[in-house]
Amino acid sequence: MKNSPEDIINQAKDFVRSTLEHESTGHDWFHIYRVTETAKTIAREEGADLFICELAALLHDIADAKLNPSEEIGLKKVADWLNSNGVGMEDAEHVLEIISTMSFKGGGKAPMRTLEGKVVQDADRLDAIGAIGIARVFTYSGAKGRPMHDPAVKLRDRMTEEEYRSGNDTAINHFYEKLLKLKDLMNTNYGRVVAAERHQFMLHYLEHFYAEWEGKAGYDS
Ligand code: ADP
Ligand code: NI
Repeated sequence: MKNSPEDIINQAKDFVRSTLEHESTGHDWFHIYRVTETAKTIAREEGADLFICELAALLHDIADAKLNPSEEIGLKKVADWLNSNGVGMEDAEHVLEIISTMSFKGGGKAPMRTLEGKVVQDADRLDAIGAIGIARVFTYSGAKGRPMHDPAVKLRDRMTEEEYRSGNDTAINHFYEKLLKLKDLMNTNYGRVVAAERHQFMLHYLEHFYAEWEGKAGYDS
């Protein structure tokens, strides 16, 4: 029996919510919720297939290596779910291609083949920057027991491999290592516009952070 797109989306929401309920590696249900909402917005702007974007966004972290014994086993779990929930073969293959390219091959650096893949990848990257992105960095660092900032910590580019591996990483350092690089990696026009705005917001945030760190007022700088 073929399920309607609405049925499939609702089933996917239930599946993902219950799977990620107790997840604490930064891939919780609300991350999925935000990425899905953003993916729908970008899909409408870019004229991409809404069903594929929404389904791939919902399932994009289910196969993550952090949640599975291996990437292969994770992808098999998604493939099985698509098969047993009435998703057509062509759509299922498209969704699987997006998920495997996003998370794995080359650490998410492989180019996306389809517009829908570009949309979902942009949505995931947008959740790592701006106000939410800032909150996620400090949450992640705190969970690892790392300091938010240490003026003595050099940027990753200037650290030796040993210094880096010794866990000398701070939340602020991660801005330079990853977050401030994301705006140049966006695939879609709409993604680029939103990323540029969130990027400026992060730069502004950092200015305030450093000013307040030195006992300055933090505004008008
Ligand atoms: P993705 O969602 O693309 O799989 P990650 O698993 O790398 O991303 O990261 C999840 C969240 O944790 C992101 O918001 C990211 O910025 C943050 N994060 C990852 N690594 C670090 C780190 N070393 N320090 C601080 N935050 C980090
Ligand atoms: Ni994600």
